[in-house]
Amino acid sequence: MDYRVRFVDFPKHYRKIKGEVDAVIQEVLSGGDYILRRHLQEFEKNFAEFIGVKYAIGVANGTDALFLSLKAANIAEGAEVITVAHTFAATVATIFQCNAKPILVDINNDHNIDDNKIVAAITENTKAIIPVHLNGRICEMDKIMKIASDHELLVIEDAAQAVSASYKQRRAGSFGLTGCFSFYPAKILGTLGDGGMIVTDDKETAEKLFLLRDHGQERETGEFLFHGFNSRLDNLHAAILNIKLKYLPQWIERRREIAHLYHKGLSDLASLQLPPPPDQGDFYDVYQNYVIRSDNRDELVAYLLQEGIEILVSWPKPLHKHKALNLDNFNLPLTEQISREVLSLPLHPELSDLDVKFVVDSLHQFYK
Ligand SMILES: Cc1ncc(COP(=O)(O)O)c(C=O)c1O
Repeated sequence: MDYRVRFVDFPKHYRKIKGEVDAVIQEVLSGGDYILRRHLQEFEKNFAEFIGVKYAIGVANGTDALFLSLKAANIAEGAEVITVAHTFAATVATIFQCNAKPILVDINNDHNIDDNKIVAAITENTKAIIPVHLNGRICEMDKIMKIASDHELLVIEDAAQAVSASYKQRRAGSFGLTGCFSFYPAKILGTLGDGGMIVTDDKETAEKLFLLRDHGQERETGEFLFHGFNSRLDNLHAAILNIKLKYLPQWIERRREIAHLYHKGLSDLASLQLPPPPDQGDFYDVYQNYVIRSDNRDELVAYLLQEGIEILVSWPKPLHKHKALNLDNFNLPLTEQISREVLSLPLHPELSDLDVKFVVDSLHQFYK
């Protein structure tokens, strides 16, 4: 379908930085620099600095960032890991891939883990918590880090949707043992395909991760120190991401401007629940998604699609309701309610104020 307002607009985004991107692709191709080369090292350094941590390890995607973090933290059979069902499947799948057991707790109205539910879910087998910073808003990290320290648990942050989001001036990914990022094309910082990053302040963990992502091989000596994985961020992707990182703060400011316009335009619609507007106390939200809630979500989505507005629903069915995933012993009422009510409006830096007005007007038209 030819949408009038697209959910993301890759061609328009590319045109904004075409000169620089084309030049760096030529540079990488001419130099034959594909795997573990200079651009990757530069991007790892720049990204670590940006997040405010010592180390960044480029990996193949955000899923591997989670999986390798769990491996580096020695999460294995018998371990329980606390997280949420209102997340992308990868968060929970990677716990299974380590032969560990996911323990799912409910979320809050901000769509993030309800920190008041964590302690009751802790058992003698609990080893870690994975807070997921959903939709570009960071979880209540002070409380989560306090629970983790009181109970000697590791924290692995799923920051796939929260690059540059911060809480009390500290960026997502810099609180836990590791922070995990995704550079999937539709992410705020996206590449031409799959890509991911792990950040950490812990030297030993970083050293292990550099080996884990590269077959367990020590490059200098050629010695294999353990059975590892092949999960490296391609040099070409790193080169492109390096360019995009420079523009990230200004793109995020535009995202926040659009969130502000949506908030101003939609606040009078009593049937909708909106995310908090930008500049709410300790939180710097980056609006990976602008997720609203409506009692008659399905009719609203159908109406907006027909108006030519591309809408996404993440996710209509929470993970614990997918039979084959073996997660059906959890009772998560708010997760289930939110899954019935959420829809994401288009929000990306390429949207014009007129596009936003069209979406706002269409929502008013529906509720008239
Ligand atoms: C919350 C969350 N966790 C994990 C991932 C996995 O990232 P990737 O698609 O790069 O593997 C994603 C992105 O798709 C995500 O949104």
